[in-house]
Amino acid sequence: MAKKTVADIDVKGKRVLMRVDFNVPLDGETITDDRRIVQAMPTIKSVIERGGRVILMSHLGRPKGGPEPKYSLRPVAKRLNELVNECQAVPHPHGEGRNVADLHIMRSPDEKLADTHSRVRFADDSIGPAVEKMANELRDGDVLLLENLRFHKGEEKNDPNFAQQLAKVGDVYVNDAFGTAHREHASTFGVPQLMQGKPRVIGFLIQKELKFLGEAISNPKRPFVAILGGAKVSDKINVIEKLLEKADTLLIGGAMAYTFFLAQGKEVGKSLVERDKIDLAATLLRRASAKIKLPIDNVISDKMTDDAQTKVIEGNIPADMEGFDIGPRTRDLYKSEIAKAKTIIWNGPMGVFEKKPFAEGTRAIAQAVADVTANGATTIIGGGDSAAAIEQMGLSDKVSHVSTGGGASLEFLENGHFSTLDILD
Ligand code: 3PG
Ligand code: MG
Repeated sequence: MAKKTVADIDVKGKRVLMRVDFNVPLDGETITDDRRIVQAMPTIKSVIERGGRVILMSHLGRPKGGPEPKYSLRPVAKRLNELVNECQAVPHPHGEGRNVADLHIMRSPDEKLADTHSRVRFADDSIGPAVEKMANELRDGDVLLLENLRFHKGEEKNDPNFAQQLAKVGDVYVNDAFGTAHREHASTFGVPQLMQGKPRVIGFLIQKELKFLGEAISNPKRPFVAILGGAKVSDKINVIEKLLEKADTLLIGGAMAYTFFLAQGKEVGKSLVERDKIDLAATLLRRASAKIKLPIDNVISDKMTDDAQTKVIEGNIPADMEGFDIGPRTRDLYKSEIAKAKTIIWNGPMGVFEKKPFAEGTRAIAQAVADVTANGATTIIGGGDSAAAIEQMGLSDKVSHVSTGGGASLEFLENGHFSTLDILD
């Protein structure tokens, strides 16, 4: 069912409590991939430009339920400030009773202090009197980012008291956290439930994600080719079953393929496998052997390092060796399937692409997906590792859509909806 979006509601002067997924990879305090922040900007900007007061909440990483400095969202506030200051709709002159001192760490280096007031503030906690005060002091067009929600156990437990403390600072609820839409946590589930009677809508990122993923599974242009990789069959089993119903061809790579090899009675040496999933793999092969394509050759080695000596092998993998990537014949086979496709969904790398000797399979697939996009196919990259791979290969803007959700995109492909979004207007 179509959801109301932030564009459908009046936000002027309202405190817009917005769940975003700013769970970005960090190297110390450096954000190594800011895609999730950048992709949330259209929704944030839309609220700012219409005079709403934005209160952003997110988690980062998996802290144990208390404050841990390495999981602070402070580095995100800095990047957010740069992006917000690029939209100058409501510049604030100095000297309107605001505390400039506490903002200076978030000012981008080139910002002219004399001209604009930084509009992004950062709260050291996500709940409590100080947060409420900051929320109430926001002016139209201001942005407040709350500290990591998971510094409180109540977030993941969806504790009603924690949810209530968050909910009370919002006049309007917006969810634009696609990457976290599969979690029934306080900020994604309890808060919107408690805000019944107030506007509760999705943002533009979730709208876009649902459009691409939804159309691909409900109404794909054919041939529809699904590419699945990654280490484990168990992570993707439900999605494999779903895609076997919907897709015309399923290309399998990554260590996941070796569990299928075992099901075919092949030898896989020391390759990563899931022995308790062999029967399942055998069942899938019996049911859909015509749709499922498995590697016909593999790049193998005795170690998974940047200087590893590699060999290409067809058939059984020797006892002392491990498969780390698809081989050249498989690349060609998969490329020819991809070239015929009108719709592609790709989730999971073909090999250990982080290591140079085993990156070729993933690179070839990424290039083939980019090429078929140029020929008019709709191509969707699931989040997580495949998004990181396509980014690393410089091809993110050569495909139709790179999802910001890893687990979330898999769950959506599997179930076709999210309970966290079902409860919104
Ligand atoms: C993610 O990166 O997968 C999302 O931000 C959700 O995080 P989580 O898997 O720790 O719940
Ligand atoms: Mg996850």
